[in-house]
This record gives sequence, C-alpha cells and structure tokens, in this order.
Amino acid sequence: MKILLLLLLLWQPWSSSEAPQNYKKERKSLFNNTVLENPDYPLDCEVFQKRGHTTDGVYVIYPRGPNWPVPVYCDLSNDGGGWTVFQKRFDGSTDFYLDWHHYRDGFGQADKEYWLGLENLRLMTLKKKYKLRVDLITFNNKKVSTEYAEFSLSPYAINEGDDNYTLHVSGFQGGEAGDSLSNHNEQPFSTFDRDNDGHAQNCAEYTHGGFWYHSEGCFHANLNGCYGSRQVGCKDIIEKGISWQAWNITSTISFSQMKIKST
Ligand SMILES: *[C@@H]1O[C@H](CO)[C@@H](O)[C@H](O)[C@H]1NC(C)=O
Ligand SMILES: *[C@@H]1O[C@H](CO)[C@@H](O)[C@H](O)[C@H]1NC(C)=O
Ligand SMILES: *[C@@H]1O[C@H](CO)[C@@H](O)[C@H](O)[C@H]1NC(C)=O
Repeated sequence: MKILLLLLLLWQPWSSSEAPQNYKKERKSLFNNTVLENPDYPLDCEVFQKRGHTTDGVYVIYPRGPNWPVPVYCDLSNDGGGWTVFQKRFDGSTDFYLDWHHYRDGFGQADKEYWLGLENLRLMTLKKKYKLRVDLITFNNKKVSTEYAEFSLSPYAINEGDDNYTLHVSGFQGGEAGDSLSNHNEQPFSTFDRDNDGHAQNCAEYTHGGFWYHSEGCFHANLNGCYGSRQVGCKDIIEKGISWQAWNITSTISFSQMKIKST
C-alpha cells in the first residue's frame, strides 16, 4: 500500500497537463507569420509566386537552411498559386511503400511522383502558418479539391521527430469529397518499421503505405497507399489503394496532390 502511494505521488508531476498547455499558449502568441525569410533561400513556393512565376514545376527551397537545397514541386496556377506540393501521385511509377527514413527525408523526384519529407514539412510549418489543400482525380476523371484552414506537423514538439510528426489539421472547408482527414488529427506518423497507430494491426503494412494512421480501422484517408493493383502486395485494392473514404466514388483515385500555402 505504501509503495502504491509512493508511486502515485511520483507519478503526479509527470501526468500533469499544465506544462504542455502553457507551452501551447506561448507558441500561439509567438507565431504570427512575420518570419524574416531570406529571399535567396526560400522556405516555400510562395516566393516564386511573388516573383511573378506562374508555371507549375520544380523549384528549389531551403526549409533546412542554406546548405540544404530541396527540390520541390510548386503549384503556381491553381487557386491563386503559391502552393507547395508535398505529395504527388499520378502514374504509380514511384513506390510509396517505404520505411521511416524515406518518409522523414522525402523520396521520389519532384518532377515525377514524390513525397517532400516530414522533416521539411515540420520545419516549414514551424516557421509559418499553413492551410492544406488536397486535390484528387479518379480514373474516370471526377475531380475534387478539399481544403483545411490549418495544417502543421509536430506543432508542440521541441526536437525533430519528438512526437513522430504528429499531424495537426483542422478547419475543414466543406466540399464534395467530404472530410476524411480530421479523423487523423493529432495522430503520429506510421511506417511499416515504426508502427505508432495504436491499432492491433500494423496499418502501414496492411495498407501498403505510410500515413498518420489511427486506431479505429487504420484510416479514413489513405493517400500514400497502393497505386493500382500491379505493385507487389497490392492485389486487394479496396483495402490498400489510395483512398478518401468520405468521397462517394465508384472509380479508383488516379491522381493525388497534397499541398500547403501560408495563411
Ligand atoms: C508579430 O511578431 C513580430 C516579432 O515578434 C512583432 O514585431 C509584430 O508586432 C507581431 N505582429 C502582430 C500582428 O502581432
Ligand atoms: C515515436 O515512435 C517510436 C517508434 O515507433 C516509439 O517508440 C515512440 O514511443 C514514439 N514516440 C511518441 C512520442 O509517440
Ligand atoms: C453515392 O453515389 C451513388 C451513385 O451515384 C448514389 O446512388 C448514392 O446515393 C450516393 N450516396 C451518398 C451517400 O451520397
């Protein structure tokens, strides 16, 4: 009994939610997008829009600092332009069933299918406030786009990956495809070799992707899942394919872009 009491007493300081709460408040007030951006080392695609570029394509940004150029695909034509595309799929040429290091650092090629990388996204969303846009097209050419007013990774983590790139997404803006991402809010990222989904199954393995999977049925959106059924392990396409469950479609998704723009 004494030992139990002692344990309870010891437990208290750590289980207190005071510290993180204050930290959240602190960060909000510090965070007002007046970041001093060195024009030689752009943080995101907005710079190119401001310089008058209107052609979608590959540009170079420096979210990790001057010594680390990162090729990025900029959407400078849709919805006012200035969108930094961090996920792009359209032909199944890039395998998205990859491990933690690939998802953290990025993979593929910006002019083809690619993933910009969780660490780049974290650093960008640490410096500015962003909104998220998801564009999807089906094989029979049905198109939708969905927006969320706020998007950031690890908003309360102090060090790189401390919370496994926890997704913060909120402010669904409506639209035909419905909301399949809010259910993933506050979920850490999972890959087959780092299972953080809280589900009995390894969701990344099960769906053949990497995402902010959650404990109830793994996902509502699975945009990094199998592209078509030709890849190894992708036969039962309904479970593993690129999906956005709230969208009432009969065809499969053939095109997906996730992109952010500062607000
Ligand atoms: C934003 O932050 C900067 C620097 O911390 C400060 O000078 C500026 O007044 C703030 N702007 C607003 C609108 O709060
Ligand atoms: C981050 O992921 C690792 C590996 O899956 C896990 O051991 C660790 O507990 C996770 N950290 C948090 C804060 O979720
Ligand atoms: C989904 O689409 C089918 C076919 O177009 C339609 O019959 C059905 O009512 C739709 N369901 C919802 C929930 O919108």
